[in-house]
Amino acid sequence: MKITSSLLPLLLIFWAIESQVTAQKPFPPVKPAPPPGKPNPPVKPKKVKCRSKLFPACFGQFQFCPVDCPRTCYVDCVSCKPVCSCNIPGAVCQDPRFVGGDGVTFYFHGHKDQNFCLLSDPNLHINSHFIGKRSPKLSRDFTWVQSIGILYDDHKLLIGAKKTSTWDDTEEHLFISFDDTPLSLDGANWKYRNSSLLITRTSSTNGIAVEVENSFKITATVVPIGAEESRIHGYDIRDDDCFAHLELGFKFYKLSDVVDGVLGQTYRRNYVSKMKVSSNMPVMGDIPKYSVSGIFDTDCTVSRFGRWNRNPMLNAGDVL
Ligand SMILES: *[C@@H]1O[C@H](CO)[C@@H](O)[C@H](O)[C@H]1NC(C)=O
Repeated sequence: MKITSSLLPLLLIFWAIESQVTAQKPFPPVKPAPPPGKPNPPVKPKKVKCRSKLFPACFGQFQFCPVDCPRTCYVDCVSCKPVCSCNIPGAVCQDPRFVGGDGVTFYFHGHKDQNFCLLSDPNLHINSHFIGKRSPKLSRDFTWVQSIGILYDDHKLLIGAKKTSTWDDTEEHLFISFDDTPLSLDGANWKYRNSSLLITRTSSTNGIAVEVENSFKITATVVPIGAEESRIHGYDIRDDDCFAHLELGFKFYKLSDVVDGVLGQTYRRNYVSKMKVSSNMPVMGDIPKYSVSGIFDTDCTVSRFGRWNRNPMLNAGDVL
């Protein structure tokens, strides 16, 4: 009893000092109100880790994706740092921005609801389906890659983003089918192997890596267009569709020197970029050249698929 009463004045003094200090603190800056319409779900940066045991000092350590790419990054095991997947050669992201095999960044807008040939080589062909919106202010569509169709050997692999009006990171928005059979994608540790094909998850939902031995590796992540991104770029995305789309990373192990397609041509040894490097938004034109009728068709004018292994009249030495 006695102790409490003698402590009381002391506590009061502390309280007075503390509240004065608080009062003197400058007010925190007022945050601008979020744009009207869709609520902006905060993006939690994804946790990633180095998956190669060849780098024991880094292997298995969790790291967070940088703020510039909260959903699409990986750990570079050499530097042991997270790297944005969209800034390295073979990346196809956003309103599609490509980083070519030659390291040059460019845009290819195509047209919404149409298919384009990303890569065509005698034994590998990759098409993409574009979704998007007509821009009232520009003479083009805003476009994103909704799915890709891959032909290799005699196989057909489809990877796509499901249409959705709401976004939840923990929900699966990916769909995959192999030789016309949809794969289940059950569980966070789901993986699929069928002869030379291996599909593994890069995160518990919405991210996979697809590898075909000695041919290619593709990472695919489904991401939505956030309200903030929509506001900045003027996409005017409405509540009924958050334009879930793919962000892709390509690696090729065995391309020929006749490889073509929007992305494919940039891997040719003799490829000279037509992009003006000085331009701050280099755009690849010639859209009709890459247009293809369906996700598994090979009728684009730049097609190279099947010529060597399917046409017995042609010898490997012939000039295509
Ligand atoms: C492997 O793919 C073939 C089609 O190319 C299919 O018939 C077979 O069922 C698949 N095997 C497995 C284990 O999924």
